[in-house]
Amino acid sequence: TQLDLIRNFSIVAHIDHGKSTLADRLIQMTGTVAERDMKAQILDSMDIERERGITIKANTVRIEYPAKDGKTYILNLIDTPGHVDFAYEVSRSMRAVEGSLLVVDASQGVEAQTLANVYHALDAGHEIVPVLNKIDLPAAEPERVKQNIEDVIGLDASDAIAISAKSGLGIPDVLEAIVTRLPAPKGDRDAPLKAMLVDSWYDPYLGVVVMVRIMDGVMKKGDRVRMMQTNAVYGIDKLAVLKPQMVDIAELGPGEIGIFTASIKQVRDTRVGDTITHERGGCTQALPGFKPAQPVVFCGLFPVDANDFEALRDAIEKLSLNDASFSTEMETSAALGFGFRCGFLGLLHLEVIRDRLEREYDLDLITTAPSVVFKLYMKDGEVRDLHNPADMPDLTYVDHIEEPRIKATIMVPDDYLGDILKLCQERRGVQLNLTYAGNRAMVEYDLPLAEVVFDFYDRLKSVTKGYASFDYTISEYREDFLVKMSILVNEEPVDALSIMVHRDRAEARGRAMVEKLKDLIPRHMFKIPIQAAIGARVIARETLSAMRKDVTAKCYGGDATRKKKLLEKQKAGKKRMRQFGKVEIPQEAFIAALKMD
Ligand code: GTP
Repeated sequence: TQLDLIRNFSIVAHIDHGKSTLADRLIQMTGTVAERDMKAQILDSMDIERERGITIKANTVRIEYPAKDGKTYILNLIDTPGHVDFAYEVSRSMRAVEGSLLVVDASQGVEAQTLANVYHALDAGHEIVPVLNKIDLPAAEPERVKQNIEDVIGLDASDAIAISAKSGLGIPDVLEAIVTRLPAPKGDRDAPLKAMLVDSWYDPYLGVVVMVRIMDGVMKKGDRVRMMQTNAVYGIDKLAVLKPQMVDIAELGPGEIGIFTASIKQVRDTRVGDTITHERGGCTQALPGFKPAQPVVFCGLFPVDANDFEALRDAIEKLSLNDASFSTEMETSAALGFGFRCGFLGLLHLEVIRDRLEREYDLDLITTAPSVVFKLYMKDGEVRDLHNPADMPDLTYVDHIEEPRIKATIMVPDDYLGDILKLCQERRGVQLNLTYAGNRAMVEYDLPLAEVVFDFYDRLKSVTKGYASFDYTISEYREDFLVKMSILVNEEPVDALSIMVHRDRAEARGRAMVEKLKDLIPRHMFKIPIQAAIGARVIARETLSAMRKDVTAKCYGGDATRKKKLLEKQKAGKKRMRQFGKVEIPQEAFIAALKMD
């Protein structure tokens, strides 16, 4: 295809502003998918994505569009993930295209993820077409939102396109704008092959599928290609474009986007952002800026029933075939037995994986508290990564500890600003900036990631009744006074409950945790002390009193069916309990104990 007949673009938007609905409309109006095959939100192929309404894996579709100038253009849409956990994937896939549609809900305005994503697009040098969606809503205020885009992003919005992705209003204008306002790709057909690895995934029938954008040269079926990061060489078995189903193609030239398969065993062997060239006569200079995605949040996953360990191992292996950014390592815990220590790109990533393990593989899991990676500077000069608070060495060997900090951007109606400032302050935040656009405030904070990984999103949502939006980037590692706090139940340390905490916060956190645990652990026939400790020093203590005899008597009294029901209920409850010495702790306790009110 001639370069000037190609347009490559992505859609950037805050969650729920209508990215998927618009993509579906573009596909539908160009007849790319027959009407009867049009399922709601074609691009979100995984169930879990559809259910949660979030796009996790980048997808793409090739659309043929006969424009008003009489020529037929090829439009390649790359669907980028919208969530902060996948920021690296977003920034890479943006480099595969030349322009973006910036979709903003005309009843809402610019939100934190709009900003974060538009910055990725600007970084990648994109031409940007602002699109105001949902103008069918009575609450839509296109003029105010145009102003808002100019004030907050600094982007000229005077020729923003007003649409309703839901009803189809304005979609022809969007298609025309893609052709007239976005630039055509550049590239040299005669130069050595230089292709960017945009995405890869595991397909049960085809194995690993690799999505590429050709920068220079031509890729053909049967070619032998080399991945410049890993130096591995593969023969291309299948070359296709996505419409969105795969349609085989003989070659991909400059500016084109497509997929290939090449008997690649695992997704791990393909690095997003890597440069692919021919084995012989290839290019010598890779595309700039490659870096592997780093997991930042770690937690332990253990089967509730120890007999499920093998099943968990299988499930984790299968999932990691398709997700290179999910790292795992076997772990044993005195309390929880055999399990895995897993690393994730962020909290949402963690939740998605845990959900899939529980639903698709029918596993009952205990998830330990999410923790970040701390850097331990040992007195002997060694620097260690601490993925699990349980592995914290004796403090006498440690010179100092550093933790990851983030730069958070929060946008919120100014009525709630006070609550946000208070929340960030409680989480050891340092305010960096505060600006207003209309009656919305934009505040930037420097925060420890450890204070955010747990329940920060939930708290943010609840204190602002859902009106705040939030985004972050990891900024740096910085030293702070951090200690390991252990929890002892009936004098026994429960390693899965130990956390790293700032020394000044330890008493308050410890107190909150033991109080929570007192409510979460059912009474036993004996008294149970619940303690929080730093080293050997107890900093908070509660006692769960013993069950009274007459209570049990009452419980087991009554008619036979009631008794049976009660016993069944207890059995079901038992499944989710873990035995620690003589004490049973319910699964919910591991997470609930850590929530801060
Ligand atoms: P994520 O995939 O979660 O990032 O969201 P998204 O940006 O893709 O939003 P999606 O297309 O899923 O739309 C979010 C909600 O807004 C859905 O309930 C849509 O039906 C609705 N919606 C999308 N476009 C319009 C529109 O033009 N008008 C109205 N009234 N609702 C719309």
